[in-house]
Amino acid sequence: MQRTVIIDALKSTALNQPINVRGWVRSRRGNKQVCFIALNDGSTIQNIQIVVDLTQFSEDQLKPVTTGSCISATGILVPSQGAGQAVEIQLTELEIYGTADPETYPLQKKGLSMEYLRTIAHLRPRTNTFGAVFRIRHHMTMAIHTYFHEHGFFNFHTPLITASDCEGAGQMFQVTTKNLYNLKKDENGKIDYSDDFFGKQASLTVSGQLEGELAAMALGKIYTFGPTFRAENSNTPRHLAEFWMIEPEVAFIDKSELMDLEEDFIKYCVRWALNNCMDDLEFLNQYVDPEHKLIERMRSVVDTEFVRLPYTEGIAILQEAIKNGQKFEFPCNWGDDISSEHERYLVEKHFGKPVIMTDYPKDIKAFYMKVNEDGKTVQGTDVLFPQIGEIIGGSVREESLDKLNAEIERRHIPMKDMWWYLDTRRFGAAPHAGFGLGFERLMLFVTGMQNIRDVIPFPRTPKTAEF
Ligand code: 4AD
Ligand code: MG
Repeated sequence: MQRTVIIDALKSTALNQPINVRGWVRSRRGNKQVCFIALNDGSTIQNIQIVVDLTQFSEDQLKPVTTGSCISATGILVPSQGAGQAVEIQLTELEIYGTADPETYPLQKKGLSMEYLRTIAHLRPRTNTFGAVFRIRHHMTMAIHTYFHEHGFFNFHTPLITASDCEGAGQMFQVTTKNLYNLKKDENGKIDYSDDFFGKQASLTVSGQLEGELAAMALGKIYTFGPTFRAENSNTPRHLAEFWMIEPEVAFIDKSELMDLEEDFIKYCVRWALNNCMDDLEFLNQYVDPEHKLIERMRSVVDTEFVRLPYTEGIAILQEAIKNGQKFEFPCNWGDDISSEHERYLVEKHFGKPVIMTDYPKDIKAFYMKVNEDGKTVQGTDVLFPQIGEIIGGSVREESLDKLNAEIERRHIPMKDMWWYLDTRRFGAAPHAGFGLGFERLMLFVTGMQNIRDVIPFPRTPKTAEF
């Protein structure tokens, strides 16, 4: 018989008809007369209840049906006698696909810690929590592509292997086919890369922005959506060594239009989750979010206008707070990089809503940001979110070749790797701007999960690359 997915079976009105469902057993309970199997196939967080009449099935037949085993169940779809579901299936035929020994199946117990589940990341998608997270992850992917497609952006694929570290965003992972056991060095002790695969030193990209800018100078509005890699040794609940980033780049927009885009885009994604993932969100709200305020936080972001706050004013607010007794671990004088405790103070305590922070001191930001007339600040536009801190990093780009060259020289960025980027300023330069959204930071916000390792299927962090 043809299989019905459980999300459809639960909504089916074909009562008293035969039906077949297949999935993994979540639990089994019952008495001497009847046994109830909760079956899940991943299509929804809801299980379907299979009711087994023990005069029809022997204990031997049911013995392999344990938590984690995989079965095909055929039966009659009937209105449910019990509370909690509209329909259930009265079993007529049972096929066992795969057993799961209760002695060794790791997901036997309930209430396993997130830390433990990370050690069995190959099985954790079978839990309610991770099933919900990964379904939402899919929906967020769809939201992102749909948003840009509907707004006339083209998806542009930038390379993952690159020979330039122009971002200075962090340590890069090297890509080489050299024999590391027998590395030839020149007289200065430097490695000669001329015989390496690419004929020069290559790395995994930290961002697709620079290539994205080239594309925006031809296609007008583009976005990238791909993995990025950073070898910074940040063992925090907000950092991964491999994470996904969405980077739109747009010609002919200014700072205020860039902020409009950031705000509109992120609200669209949160609204999409509210409209398409409510079953999963309700579960996460009740069982995972420590304050049970996930849905409330999401609604409040969608319904509120973000604050637009120049860095200099932000520092003034933080210093005022310190005067009034607020304690921070890191200093926050003008010129300091703002850390996540400061970001969260502004967003959660001071304003109570997302903040777009702008016009940062140029020395704490990347070389490509457009310098303001004061000569000290740049047109960065980072979005700061409750619980998360920085979720988007963006800026207007410096389009003047002379100014950009001066900045590259001031920072001693190797020019020879940058010729192609500078060509955009040489030939038909245009004002343009863009940003990068950390996909897993967005995932943290729309799931209420506390650690970024728990919103990506197989996290890569310092000393961890299992699975
Ligand atoms: O602020 P970042 O470093 O900006 C860029 O890379 C620019 N090239 C973006 C652009 O303008 N096109 O990174 C952008 C975002 C951050 O705001 C954060 O959400 C996320 O990427 N991010 C990380 N997420 C997880 N783990 C890490 N190690 C991250 N580093 C940055
Ligand atoms: Mg940033």
